[in-house]
Formats: sequence, structure tokens, C-alpha cells
Amino acid sequence: MPLYQNLEALYRERKKYLGNQCGLVPTMGALHRGHLALIEQAQIENERVWVTIFVNPTQFNNASDLHAYPVSLQEDVDAIHKINPTINIFAPSIRDMYPDQVHATSHAFNGLDTVMEGADRPDHFNGVITIVSKLFEVIKPNRAYFGEKDFQQLSIIKNWVKTANIPTTIVPCPIIREANGLAMSSRNELLTKTTRAEAGFIYKTLKHCASNGMKKAAIYSYIKNAFAKHPKFTLHYALCVDETSLKEVDEVNPQEKQRIFVATSVEGVRLIDNIVLK
Ligand code: PAJ
Repeated sequence: MPLYQNLEALYRERKKYLGNQCGLVPTMGALHRGHLALIEQAQIENERVWVTIFVNPTQFNNASDLHAYPVSLQEDVDAIHKINPTINIFAPSIRDMYPDQVHATSHAFNGLDTVMEGADRPDHFNGVITIVSKLFEVIKPNRAYFGEKDFQQLSIIKNWVKTANIPTTIVPCPIIREANGLAMSSRNELLTKTTRAEAGFIYKTLKHCASNGMKKAAIYSYIKNAFAKHPKFTLHYALCVDETSLKEVDEVNPQEKQRIFVATSVEGVRLIDNIVLK
């Protein structure tokens, strides 16, 4: 079974197919259909696929969130091997990825990190780039797959690859949703059944705002009202944003690439979502 749990084993295996086109899907495990869609896409486009499973401590803002993060390695391995038993899985220890200090290196992100998740979660994206750069270094992928669910993360990774001349193509993948519209997330597991069902209102609200030709102010008040009807959910932000700069737009313009982003917390779980403005 191609499951590698330390760097030595990874290097031995990686050496065997240095000439092959290699696709990487970095994850923190507790896999759901959103992750599996990325893996399936990587399978189509590469000779070899690596999935990494590593709950990266340096991107968490508090210890309780880190400790609550769901772990299900055996189920994850089974789900990946159902797609294809030859997919390689790298699930290293903290020691392997952080042999010295468990800390994030600092990066400049051209302002992409000063809004939304970056503003609410100091150092989060430094932690993400620290681990993604380590994974790129050991696996050396030709392509790497990231979901639009974490759109700001995707933008920051694209920017980092470009400015640091990293020879890996970043492939964006669409958001996969639960039946009620809730964007799939490993953290959804932490919600009670009723709250998970209720959380479907987030996407319904976004969908309404994205396709009704509404102005920015109308979108903001529609979202605020929708959240007011679900008082368990604390709204952290609702923003109409330019896809490239991640800056808030002056006004909605369907001719330009813009998205609505929201972040909310419920039952101590942070949920994020976004939608293209049409
Ligand atoms: P994780 O939350 O496990 O997500 C791994 C990848 O799956 C990310 O690229 C994320 O955007 C994508 N993903 C998650 N839910 C999705 C959904 N509903 N639809 C489509 N794609 C989805 O993101 C991380 O881990 C970490 O920050 C990581 C990049 C692995 C670095 O530690």
C-alpha cells in the first residue's frame, strides 16, 4: 500500500519516477468529496499523484482549533484507494515537516493577506505557505491542485509560485457542496446535525445575491438580514471583492471578475464560502 509516513520512505519512492508528470493534492485529511474531486482531477492530468495528509500546526490560530481538527487517516487512505490504489499518500509526522522549530516563516503577499482570512487570522497564510513550500520541495510536483473554496489561499499560493519562480502549475478546482448547498469542509463534521442542515442558508443567500443584478449595498444588507434570521451564526465579513487584487470593489460589475466572500462562526466552527458575481 503506497502510504509513506516519513521523509526517507518518501524520498526512496519519489526517486523512482523523477521523469514522470507528478500531481500533488495537499490536504489536512478528514477527506470529503471536495478533496476527492481534486484528487480525481489530478488523476486525469498526471502520470503520478501524491496526496499529502498533514494537519499543519503553524496555520492554526489557536490550540483548541488545532486539537479539535478531525483526524481519520485509515478512512482517508481507503477513500483515496477507492479512486485508485496506486495513488501515493504522504502522511508525515510533525518532526518530519518541522525538524527544528514548529514555526512559520514570513512571506510578502502583495497585500493579498491583509483582507478577509488574512485580516482575521494573523500569520495563517505564513503557516500555509511554510508547509506548502516544504511539500513542494520534497515532492517536486509539476502540478498542484487547490480548491476555490479557500479562494484567498489559492490566490496567495498562485502569487507565491509566480514571485518565487516555483516550477509548479497551480490548478484551481471548483467548490463541491453538500446537498443543502453548504460548502464541504472537514470542519462540517464538528457541527451538530441541526446546525449543519441550517447552514445551507449561507449558500442560498450567496446565490440570491450573485444572480439578481443587485448593487453592493443591497447585497450587504441582504446578507446581514439573512444572518439576522440565523442568530447562532456570527457573521465575520461579507465582501464583494475583485478576484485578482482581493480588494473590495467600489461597485458590482458583472463584466469584471468579482466574487462575494463570507466568513461566519457557529458552535465554535469557522465556515467560509464564496461565489462568482454574474
Ligand atoms: P484542507 O482544508 O484539507 O483542504 C485541502 C484542499 O481541498 C484545499 O485546496 C481546499 O481548498 C480544498 N477543498 C476543501 N474543501 C473543498 C470543497 N468543498 N470544494 C473544493 N475544494 C475544497 O486547505 C488546506 O487543507 C490547507 O491549508 C493546506 C493547503 C493543505 C496546507 O496545509
